[in-house]
Amino acid sequence: MRLTLKRPDDWHLHLRDGAAMAAVVGHSAAQFARAIIMPNLKPALATTAAALDYRRRILAALPADTAFEPLMTLYLTDNTSAAEIHAARESAQVHAVKLYPAGATTNADAGVSAIENTYPALEAMQALGLPLLVHAEVTDPQVDIFDREAVFIERILAPLTQRLPALKIVLEHITTRQGVEFVSASADNIAGTLTAHHLLLNRNALFAGGLRPHHYCLPVLKREQHRQALLEAATSGSAKFFLGTDSAPHPRSAKESACGCAGLYTAHAAMELYAEAFEQAGALDKLEAFASFHGADFYGLPRNQGEIVLEKSAWQVPDTYPLAGEELVPMRAGETLSWKLRTPAHAD
Ligand code: DOR
Ligand code: ZN
Repeated sequence: MRLTLKRPDDWHLHLRDGAAMAAVVGHSAAQFARAIIMPNLKPALATTAAALDYRRRILAALPADTAFEPLMTLYLTDNTSAAEIHAARESAQVHAVKLYPAGATTNADAGVSAIENTYPALEAMQALGLPLLVHAEVTDPQVDIFDREAVFIERILAPLTQRLPALKIVLEHITTRQGVEFVSASADNIAGTLTAHHLLLNRNALFAGGLRPHHYCLPVLKREQHRQALLEAATSGSAKFFLGTDSAPHPRSAKESACGCAGLYTAHAAMELYAEAFEQAGALDKLEAFASFHGADFYGLPRNQGEIVLEKSAWQVPDTYPLAGEELVPMRAGETLSWKLRTPAHAD
């Protein structure tokens, strides 16, 4: 069986920097025409100038013959000015601004400590139509980790949409039924991304036969009923939901550790993993719009021209990939996948 799709995009990707970025960017370029690149580097990419420099480094690291377009984002801080937002828009290379609650995840220390501090920036974004990408988890240690997304929606996101009703918002990596319901019930300026790993795994995967650090990510995997809600959203055909892998490379040593880092690496087989999830749901016919149309439409960008082919053909995922002198353990390491991406990287 073969599936031909218009070339897809990844609307949420971590590429890191330097040698690590050079080691992984080829995987995404082979899968996707474009990707929204997360700004949680150290130091955080809080200015347009920094984002544009990073873009140049990504382009320079691309394997020869690839046509991959990095779509840059700014890292929102308590001090992001309206002028910085205007500069971002004028650059035409910055396509969104990312909100990390301070301390919520990897390199989120420089994130937002109180949403009120960001109103000048958010008002400018609303006026310019620049989307806000939200890591929707409260950081309050009193809140159970499995409830942090639902509580964020209640405490922060719902009031924010009341205050700035025309602000374009993407609820990133939705992990709960509450997240799906919030997006579904909102106006068209509110959308959500879904990762392959949250579509394929529930929280049992964290503890299958022992502690599984390679399945630890943020927001953390949830119960099966939530995974079912995500699958329904992804396969519903609703233009509000689109693909964002949140592929997040960490060296093996940082994952297999007494205090392991959050993140799954899925860029090596992103479309194969989404195809598996959509096939399980009996909805392969909904994959193309989810992967290739809805995100571009939401961001106001043209849909891609080229095509990719996914073939039902078993292959074994390597145990590791090289990562700047270390090892990277990908999702499904050493296991067999049933779909294989066939089209070369530069197909368009
Ligand atoms: O699991 C995650 N990893 N979640 C995030 O929000 C950040 C990401 C990373 O950068 O490693
Ligand atoms: Zn992310």
